[in-house]
Amino acid sequence: MPQEFRQILKYADQPGYRLDLDCYVRHGGYEALKKALNLPPRTLSDGRSVSGPEQIREEVRISGLRGRGGAGFSCGLKWSFVDRKSGKPIYLICNADESEPGTFKDKQIIYKDPHQMLEGMIIACYANDVHLAYIYIRGEFVEGAKILNRALKEARAKNFLGKNILGSGYDLDIWVHRGAGAYICGEETGLIESLEGKRAYPRIKPPYFPAVLGLYLCPTIVNNVETLCAVKHIVALGGAEYAKLGTSNNTGTRIVSISGHVKRPGYYEVEVGKATIGELINDPAFGGGLRDGRKLKAVIPGGSSAKVFKAGERFKLRRRGPDGKEAEQEVDMLDLPYDFDSLIAAGSMSGSGAIIVLDDSTDIVEALSNIAEFYAHESCGQCTPCREGSLWMAKALHRLAHGEGRKQDADYLVKIADNIPGGRTICAFGEACAWPVQSFVGKFKDEFVARGAADEERKARLTEAIGEPGQALVASATDS
Ligand SMILES: Cc1cc2nc3c(=O)[nH]c(=O)nc-3n(C[C@H](O)[C@H](O)[C@H](O)COP(=O)(O)O)c2cc1C
Ligand code: SF4
Repeated sequence: MPQEFRQILKYADQPGYRLDLDCYVRHGGYEALKKALNLPPRTLSDGRSVSGPEQIREEVRISGLRGRGGAGFSCGLKWSFVDRKSGKPIYLICNADESEPGTFKDKQIIYKDPHQMLEGMIIACYANDVHLAYIYIRGEFVEGAKILNRALKEARAKNFLGKNILGSGYDLDIWVHRGAGAYICGEETGLIESLEGKRAYPRIKPPYFPAVLGLYLCPTIVNNVETLCAVKHIVALGGAEYAKLGTSNNTGTRIVSISGHVKRPGYYEVEVGKATIGELINDPAFGGGLRDGRKLKAVIPGGSSAKVFKAGERFKLRRRGPDGKEAEQEVDMLDLPYDFDSLIAAGSMSGSGAIIVLDDSTDIVEALSNIAEFYAHESCGQCTPCREGSLWMAKALHRLAHGEGRKQDADYLVKIADNIPGGRTICAFGEACAWPVQSFVGKFKDEFVARGAADEERKARLTEAIGEPGQALVASATDS
C-alpha cells in the first residue's frame, strides 16, 4: 500500500520546526547550495567533462524533473533553451501565483519552509548564470510575502545571498513581487508583463518565448515553487539517484492537493506514479475515502481546468507487466497511476497536482456553472474566442443552473467550447476554459439535456396557464 514519501515536506509539519534560518540550517539547510558551489568536475558517459553551473544543469537533465506548475514540461530541457549568448542578463522567476482552483501546495512550502524554496532558487540561479531573480507571489498571500521577505533578509545576512556568496565569487539577489490578484498572472508571459508593471496580458509565442525574450525582453526562466524545491534535492542526491524516485519518465516526488468530498482533504507528497487516483482518494493515509453513505460521481484530476473523469470510466493504457513486457491493459479510472503520462493517455492531465473529488450529491450542472463563471471572470480579454466564448458558456450554464435552460444547451455549450482551443488563442487559458465544458457536458450529457428539457416543460406549462409573457398586459389594455 503506497504511503506518503515526504522529501520537500519532510520537516514542514514536524512539531517545533520553525521558519527561521537557524532552524533550517540545523536540519541540513543550505548544504545542497554549498555542494552546488563546490561540485568537482565530472566526466559524463559520453566522454564530455562538465563542471560548475553546467554540471548542475546536467544533473537536472538526468533527474528527469518535470515542471510542477501545470504543463509537466521537462525542467532540464527548458533550461537548455535559455539564450546564453545574447549578452543580455538572464533572469529567473519563481512562479508562486498558485492560482489554479483546487491547488494549495506551493502555499504550504512558502508558509512552512521558505528557506527550502530559496535554496532551490539560489542553486537554479547559479546553474543558469542568473544574478537577479524574482519571486512572483499571489497577491492574496500577504503573510507569505512577509515570510519570504524575512527569509531573504536572513539569507542575505548569512551571505547565502548577495555578493560573493559563501566566498564563491557568485553574486545574486532575489526580490519578492506581490501579484495582481488574477488567475492569468500565473501564466508565465502574463506574469512577466505584470512584473514589468503592466496588465497581465499574455504574450504571443513565438516570438516571446521567455527563454529568449522574457523579462525586459531578456532570457528568462520561469519555474514553479515546487519545481525549484526539487532542484535542491537533485543536487543533494545527484540526478541519477533522484531519477530512481517515482516511475519511468515521471520521476521524483509530487505534492498532491486533495479536496472536495473526501474525509481527509489535504496535501500529500508521494513518489510520482506510485499511487493510483483511487488510492489517493480512498486510502486512510491520503483522502480517507468518501463521506459516509456516498458514492463517487466524478474526479477532476489536475486542477479545475483538467478534463473531468466520470466514475466507472475505463481507459486502455500500455503498461509493463511483471515479465517486463509492455502490453495494452484496460483499467478503471481509479486504477490510473497518478503521473503525468497516464493521465494524458487517459485524455486529461495531472496539471498542478490537484485532485477534486465529487460525490453523488453533486449537482453537475451547478458544479460546471461555478467553474465556467470563474473562467469567464478571469479571461484577460485579448482573444475573441476566449473572451466571448468563456462568457457565453458561463451565461448558458447560469441559465441552466437557474431554471432557464433549454434542451439544446448541451450541444450549444460544446459547440462554443470546441471553437476556443486549438491555436485560436494567445495562451493556454483557451484550453483551460474549454476543457471543463467539453468533458463535463460530454460525459454527463444526459444530466444537462434533462435539466434543459425540464426547464422547457415547466415554461410551456406556465405559458399555457397564464399565456405568453406580456399577453395579459396586452389583453387588459385592449379591454380598457
Ligand atoms: C492560465 C494559466 C495559469 C497558470 N497559473 C500558474 C500558477 O499559478 N502557478 C504556476 O506555477 N504555473 C502556472 N501556470 C503555468 C505557467 O505558465 C508556467 O508553465 C509554469 O510556471 C512553469 O513552471 P514549471 O515548468 O516549473 O512547471 C499557468 C498557466 C496558465 C495557462
Ligand atoms: S486565451 Fe484568454 S486569457 Fe489567454 S490571452 Fe487570450 S483572452 Fe487572454
